[in-house]
Amino acid sequence: MTTAADQPQSLSDASMPAHVGIIMDGNGRWARQRKLKRTQGHREGVEAAKRVVVAAEQLGIGYLSLYSFSTENWKRAKDEVAFIMGLVARNLRDQYDFYREHRIRLYHSGNIGKLPPDVRSEIAAVTADTKHYDGIKVNLAVNYGGRDEIVRAVNRWIAAHEQAPDPELSIDALRPYLDLPEFPDPDLIIRSGGHKRISNFLLWQSAYSELYFSDRLWPAWTAEDFTAAIKDYQQRQRNYGGVK
Ligand code: IPE
Ligand code: IPE
Ligand code: MG
Repeated sequence: MTTAADQPQSLSDASMPAHVGIIMDGNGRWARQRKLKRTQGHREGVEAAKRVVVAAEQLGIGYLSLYSFSTENWKRAKDEVAFIMGLVARNLRDQYDFYREHRIRLYHSGNIGKLPPDVRSEIAAVTADTKHYDGIKVNLAVNYGGRDEIVRAVNRWIAAHEQAPDPELSIDALRPYLDLPEFPDPDLIIRSGGHKRISNFLLWQSAYSELYFSDRLWPAWTAEDFTAAIKDYQQRQRNYGGVK
């Protein structure tokens, strides 16, 4: 007799996550394993990100957040930081055919003021130029830190309520001041590269996210790895503190 457990898992459209966040880790190790420079790992990491964006789009996922550079990543060697910034600026500029083909609308989250001017202007251009695309919404988290986002949100809230007689901050009142209030909280956060930690990604929004960790280093990720994560997510029971 075959049981449900014997069947290969199949994807269900009904429980597709609305928003998936990805901590794309392992670029440096992937390169070192091949006796390449760490920067080559970042270059290949962009290709993996494109494969996964297409996979997510084909599954009908509406929102994807890609953790690309954290507020702590400035601690790295100057050369590596400069390479990543150049890679971000260049790819934002060079991937217009890709955005058009897949109708990708791009967003940015993070502390934009501290980014180099060319990165800032490419972010401004690409978010404006893809505004009319109605496909998957992709958030590039660049110079993003969850703690930094929360503090910036609180400061924006304070600035907006300076004249109010008796201002009181609440959970619901803060949401509009987060970087991307139009994005729902992530249903699923994936981390590649073997480490089981959040590393300051979407701290506020991940309160009830499901977590999925994979040992595979980010540049090696394919559509199949992403689909496996979604299948795993679809087996989870979410309670949000209640009882099912
Ligand atoms: C993730 O890969 C990319 C960034 C943090 C920019 P890493 O560069 O952290 O790669 P590992 O973890 O050192 O292998
Ligand atoms: C997390 O990776 C940040 C990104 C993937 C952009 P890190 O490599 O910076 O994380 P830690 O330092 O190992 O926690
Ligand atoms: Mg890392």
